[in-house]
Amino acid sequence: MKDYSGKVVVVTGGAHGIGAEIARRYAQAGAAIALFDIEAPALETMAEELRTTGATVLAVHGDVADYAAVGDFADRVFESFGRVDLVFSNAGVISAGTIWEEPVEDWDWLLGVNVKGLVHTAKAFTARMSAQDFPSDIVNTASIAGLLTVENSPAYVASKFAALGLTEVLDLQLQGIGSPVRAHAVCPAVVSTDLGRCNEHRNQPEFNPADHPYLQSTDYTKRWAVVEGSLPLGMPVEDAVEVIIEGVESNTFLILTHPAYNPAIAGRVQLLLSGSHPQLVQR
Ligand SMILES: NC(=O)c1ccc[n+]([C@@H]2O[C@H](COP(=O)([O-])OP(=O)(O)OC[C@H]3O[C@@H](n4cnc5c(N)ncnc54)[C@H](O)[C@@H]3O)[C@@H](O)[C@H]2O)c1
Repeated sequence: MKDYSGKVVVVTGGAHGIGAEIARRYAQAGAAIALFDIEAPALETMAEELRTTGATVLAVHGDVADYAAVGDFADRVFESFGRVDLVFSNAGVISAGTIWEEPVEDWDWLLGVNVKGLVHTAKAFTARMSAQDFPSDIVNTASIAGLLTVENSPAYVASKFAALGLTEVLDLQLQGIGSPVRAHAVCPAVVSTDLGRCNEHRNQPEFNPADHPYLQSTDYTKRWAVVEGSLPLGMPVEDAVEVIIEGVESNTFLILTHPAYNPAIAGRVQLLLSGSHPQLVQR
């Protein structure tokens, strides 16, 4: 990893999982870190952990689905540090269900975080980063679920296909204006993180999942168990973040942490071009 002394690294969803490990690695490499997260106590714990290693840290509590909050965060980052070198737009949540039964509130929540969160972060940071007279990067966390469909989690798949598409467009538009900012999309398969706890971060005080009949049903319970059960079996977060850092440093656009899935990605494109329907993998 390069030396990041004097550089500023921004991480949304930096209190847990992939974002927390990204923050640790760049702090160890000398960067000042700006964290933004919806979970206040975990955010403070993370900020303290980084400070005890000597890092300069700005920690701001907020919701990426709230554009005003992300805009205020960006203002505070530029006021505090005067520059931004890397933005990891990483906050994300997951749900499960059938399209016809999953509550619309799930879609509102999930698309607000996983899609609009990326839009808000790009809007708040990229114009000012473009005006800087040095190269910088914005790294959007999509998922392998932005390249391969997972029958269990329709809102998540829709959000991650959107994340990949909007990151490509962002990169094209930055190239179009001759910006020194490059966009990247990260597409991990399963990584061992706290993503299975994301229902605790719902930003909908008026919506109680315990009141929704589908979210109490056997079908939902089975589907959610697949999500929760897979995460502890995933790649260690340290290994995933190593690949992400290498990808950004080598200016890779599409950063794939699990190359074992590459043949499946090629196979999906071939299947679509053949006119065949997607193939159901029995659970
Ligand atoms: N873990 C995996 O297997 C996996 C695979 C592919 C992609 N991803 C993606 O990686 C990213 C990071 O997830 P993770 O696995 O580290 O999960 P995680 O739950 O460990 O970390 C996500 C962080 O985002 C924060 N967050 C959630 N909602 C937020 C909001 N509205 N505003 C601000 N912060 C919010 C959480 O508090 C948490 O700190 C997500 O975009 C996720 O979709 C994860």
